[in-house]
Amino acid sequence: MIEKIKELIKKKNKRPIVCLTSYSFNISSILDKYCDLILVGDSVSNVLYGMKNTHKLTLEMIIEHTKSVKSKIAKNLLVVDMPKGTYGNSKLALKNAKKIIKETKCDAVKIENYRNNHKIIEKLVKSKINVMGHIGYTPQYKSKFKIQGNSKTSAKQLLKEAKLIEKAGAFCIVLECIETNISKKITEFLKIPTIGIGSSKYCDGQILVTDDILGLSGFHPRFVKKYVNIKKYIEKAIQKYSKEVLNKQFPKKKHSF
Ligand code: KIV
Repeated sequence: MIEKIKELIKKKNKRPIVCLTSYSFNISSILDKYCDLILVGDSVSNVLYGMKNTHKLTLEMIIEHTKSVKSKIAKNLLVVDMPKGTYGNSKLALKNAKKIIKETKCDAVKIENYRNNHKIIEKLVKSKINVMGHIGYTPQYKSKFKIQGNSKTSAKQLLKEAKLIEKAGAFCIVLECIETNISKKITEFLKIPTIGIGSSKYCDGQILVTDDILGLSGFHPRFVKKYVNIKKYIEKAIQKYSKEVLNKQFPKKKHSF
């Protein structure tokens, strides 16, 4: 296990783990100063490409975004989402995870939980690939958004999945939109850190989509805190530019050669 991952695991029960998503170098260079882990999430498909879900994202697309992210980070642990359809069985998962790591030099891959895919995690970990698990609301497999773990059966199922993923060798696990008591229970039970998104303060760390907290994506469900409305500033600047071009106020002599 690489040093950065050992350090991340040690943070459990000491201090919260700070994580965000990034798809490009300009954002990554800022995140690198304040985060522990950067995820090149498959949310890039909705956020940057305007797709209606994450299902059509290709391996090549996520690899290109990760190369850009990687170019500007020095200290963060870099994790890459494996797109839907790229890890359907152990052989395929191994081939594609190796391709992602070889081409991007990332530290780990993330896999959303579906049926028995803890077995895929086990296979990757045995092949020395670091894996982050993901349970709860898993957009690659659940089309309709719903809070997870709010019935006895689903709470029991989530705890079972979390245990299997830890046993398979994952170094941490994302808990997405899981009811507070059950995410607390999972966090207390596991030895590996839990990273919550809409899953309460009891998780060992938090992750959100950077474009959401900046107010750039226009997506603000209850679990997203909008720290700034950057869209407003962009609009103001573009409006001013447009006006100045139309009025011939731009460019001035100092902008010309
Ligand atoms: O794709 C993504 O951005 C994610 C999250 C955990 C934020 O999977």
